[in-house]
Amino acid sequence: AGSLTVGELAQKLNKDSSEIIKKLMMLGVMATKNQDLDADSIELICGEFNVEVEEEVIVDETDIENMTFDDNPEDLQERPAVVTIMGHVDHGKTTLLDSIRNTKVTEGEAGGITQHIGAYQVEENDKKITFLDTPGHAAFTSMRSRGAQVTDIAILVVAADDGVMPQTREAINHAKAAEVPIIVAVNKMDKEGANPDRIMQELMEYELISEDFGGETIFVKMSAVKGEGIDELLEMIVLVSEMEEFKANPDRPAYGTVIEAELDKGRGPVATLLVQNGTLKVSDSLVVGNTYGRVRAMVNDLGRRVKTAAPSTPVEITGLNNVPQAGDRFLVFEDEKKARSIGEARAQKQIEADRSATARVSLDDLFDQI
Ligand code: GTP
Ligand code: MG
Repeated sequence: AGSLTVGELAQKLNKDSSEIIKKLMMLGVMATKNQDLDADSIELICGEFNVEVEEEVIVDETDIENMTFDDNPEDLQERPAVVTIMGHVDHGKTTLLDSIRNTKVTEGEAGGITQHIGAYQVEENDKKITFLDTPGHAAFTSMRSRGAQVTDIAILVVAADDGVMPQTREAINHAKAAEVPIIVAVNKMDKEGANPDRIMQELMEYELISEDFGGETIFVKMSAVKGEGIDELLEMIVLVSEMEEFKANPDRPAYGTVIEAELDKGRGPVATLLVQNGTLKVSDSLVVGNTYGRVRAMVNDLGRRVKTAAPSTPVEITGLNNVPQAGDRFLVFEDEKKARSIGEARAQKQIEADRSATARVSLDDLFDQI
């Protein structure tokens, strides 16, 4: 909150300093014209003059998880939907992602490099769509428990020859908690014993009711292995994104979430980031989780070097001092020194937290032995 001198407050209230000093005296505070007033006194004085104090939003920049950002509505532009594929083990999530990518990305485009990146973008009807290959449910759960919401649309993959399984239910719960639209992909339609009606019936229990049964949930019957139903699925994703109108402001410093990260022998810490708002640029200074750095190089999902990454774009970056964790938030600071000091403070906090955890563990161990 701001601090003002008596004189400055008087000016703002269009009063004489002596009037303010008088009021302060009545409140038991002796003050001079150049005296600094704290927020409480300012509020009291304003109350005396029947002026409402606009509450200033105080943003603690070290708390990058909970920072709030406001963009002017006129600065917002359409951005690609971020789609997460979820579902039970072996129901075909990875095959589906591969199949989408193969249909949409020709080998020439990829430059022959098979780059592993946990996220990629394809284009359907001139609209880009970002897909996230959340490696297993653990990462997704950790992202969600830390409040990192990255998904706009969830694709629930259910094998037509199997049915609703424990991780199917878990995926539904995740998507519902995140309040994102769910599209059901009934996969493995090519298999003998495929029974899509049974899947639809089982999912009714979870309020995922297909149009065939009078509901509104989109079901796409498909075979990831045969590449059947992929186009329809993509069309449905475009349809849903058009209804939801996902937007972001490309003209601001970027922030977003770490999708995955690792230590590369040659390149050092490497992180796949999803830019959620703003544009990330090479040589930007950023805080990422409990580390920080400067973007040295950026590579897109096709393995090509890029200089900028717009909202909803996944990129792999190098230049961090340490390896962050999946689900960590990142935030660009225009001031490099600021990024460094916040990053160092967060790293220090982490070291202390780790140390006290170790201390606790060893105490527990001691008691165990008694
Ligand atoms: P996890 O990552 O372990 O959770 O599994 P997943 O959901 O990614 O399944 P994955 O794509 O690895 O597929 C599991 C198996 O099902 C593989 O042997 C695939 O070839 C097979 N499979 C996937 N989609 C289809 C399909 O449409 N038809 C048939 N017949 N087999 C499929
Ligand atoms: Mg898989």
